[in-house]
Amino acid sequence: MCGIFGAICQGAVSNTLKALKLLEYRGYDSAGFAANRGDVIEICKTEGRIAALERLAQGVAETDVAIGHTRWATHGAVCAQNAHPFLSPDGRFAIVHNGIIENYLDLKKYLGKKVFSSQTDSETVAYLLEKEYRGDVLQAVLRVAQMLQGSFAIAITAVNERKLYAIKNKSPLVVGFGEGAYLCSDIRCISRWANSVAVTPDGTVAEISPDGARFFRFDGSPVAVNFFTPEQGENVAETSGDFMLKEIYEIPRKLVLAKNGYFDSGGLNLPERRAGSFRKIYFIGCGTAYNSGLQVSAVARQWFGIDVTPVIASEFVYGNYPVDGHTLAFFISQSGETADTVRAVERVRAAGGYAYAVTNTASSSLTFACDRTVNICAGGEYAVASTKAYNCQLVTLTLLMLDVALGRGAISRQSYRYFLREMDSLPQAVMRALKSDDEITRLAEKIKDVSALFYIGRIADYPTACEGSLKLKEISYIHSEAYPAGELKHGALALMDSDVAVVAISTFDALSDKTASSVNEIAARGAMVITVSDRVFENSLPLIIPKVHPALAGIASVVPLQLLAYRTAKSLGRDVDKPRNLAKSVTVE
Ligand code: AGP
Ligand code: GLU
Repeated sequence: MCGIFGAICQGAVSNTLKALKLLEYRGYDSAGFAANRGDVIEICKTEGRIAALERLAQGVAETDVAIGHTRWATHGAVCAQNAHPFLSPDGRFAIVHNGIIENYLDLKKYLGKKVFSSQTDSETVAYLLEKEYRGDVLQAVLRVAQMLQGSFAIAITAVNERKLYAIKNKSPLVVGFGEGAYLCSDIRCISRWANSVAVTPDGTVAEISPDGARFFRFDGSPVAVNFFTPEQGENVAETSGDFMLKEIYEIPRKLVLAKNGYFDSGGLNLPERRAGSFRKIYFIGCGTAYNSGLQVSAVARQWFGIDVTPVIASEFVYGNYPVDGHTLAFFISQSGETADTVRAVERVRAAGGYAYAVTNTASSSLTFACDRTVNICAGGEYAVASTKAYNCQLVTLTLLMLDVALGRGAISRQSYRYFLREMDSLPQAVMRALKSDDEITRLAEKIKDVSALFYIGRIADYPTACEGSLKLKEISYIHSEAYPAGELKHGALALMDSDVAVVAISTFDALSDKTASSVNEIAARGAMVITVSDRVFENSLPLIIPKVHPALAGIASVVPLQLLAYRTAKSLGRDVDKPRNLAKSVTVE
């Protein structure tokens, strides 16, 4: 979580503030920066958003070396004292940190009876730098790097140095050059300033000056790192209105890009010696990315004759899921930086499995960790609640499974072509679903005061229910749960009353009579039922969606649920793009 930025350039303070605004989606409980003025480092930090930091920074003079941070607290309360940067007691060093220093309590013991200004794990790094400094900053940074355990991207500035230093392990860090020298947690953000960038490898210290960068392993041996030209990011700061709504309305266009992007990048394209030998397939991800895997695993089993096991990444890392040389694991992640997902890759590769990234972010930690990557082409997604990335993940995963099925002879070339043609009808179907926005706004008014919502569906509609439920809870803060519709009567029916609402998704004709029974059972207990289907059900408020093949229906039927979550959260006055306690990119385990 959290965003860090560092700059050696003219107007380093204002550039750092601009960058922090772009990084704010990564963490937004407090923020700060350090302005290096040669023999003194000035710190400016506050609880709250970047807007509060900007107000505080009005009196701060410009300088040409600065580092900044926007925080998502892991250690210590959300307050100005715990906001980054932290100074060493002698004022020589200032640091910002993304991640967790797991051995910080041991390090505090090593530092002796120091009084710390914060409750964070991060501040120990500034103190260690002071203790380990013997006249050479790089040597001090290397010595400290060897002491740290955990995940960290740390930016360091030192008095009388026109350089920046970084220590990186398992948290994202990109170094770049343009009009000046920069470091940043996010490649899309740094590409505003840098036309040549390098992704810093794990276990590396970087020394960055206006003339270039040098990279070292923690033992001081040099590391060769490749620089490349990044793709230019979209103009985030200038976009007005909620990102989430804008991102939902982009879905029709992005579905086309996802499909074209898949074929342009060569399709499934597994190495020949491996292609025929896979016996076990996993879909691994977290949150929305996991839900997309859950969805397409249901589709693959039901319609393509392929057995895929979907697993939540954090469970996969520590659960004893079998992996060997015949394992093909797809790692799904919008950001490509989710720590749990990247850890899961390491497990698969260590056991000889093939790791395949399905991501929205080229040159992310995930793409470097995996054997092969396919981009879902959703474009920058900034609302914490993922929407268009989910729809594009569904397209890409469906295409991957179609290729696997065709390769195994589980489907004919004719049905393969049929599904591809059907896919072309999806943008239109989503556009029609978006036309229900007014109706959805009215429904949002009806559900905003219920005590809980249940989302139900069967087979491939159940994962859609999971995603609808996740969307609602994370941005409206209303309790919600998803259930396979048939499972309701085994417990949750006890909770049905007039204080509760249920959203039933039904896109599979063969099972729609079962949905009708569930709706009646729920309505008989007094709960309000909304149905999302191309069919109208008695005793419910219908949200009609266009008919598409049930194998692809989830790509369109989730859209009214994304909008319902958005409209409900809006009517409750929530900060939709930046919900409490969450961050866009979860870079800690
Ligand atoms: C989605 O709305 C959530 N904010 C969250 O569950 C997210 O999908 C999850 O953290 C995974 O992120 P990733 O796709 O960037 O790996
Ligand atoms: N662990 C640090 C803290 O709690 C950094 C968290 C972050 O990555 O924002 O302040």
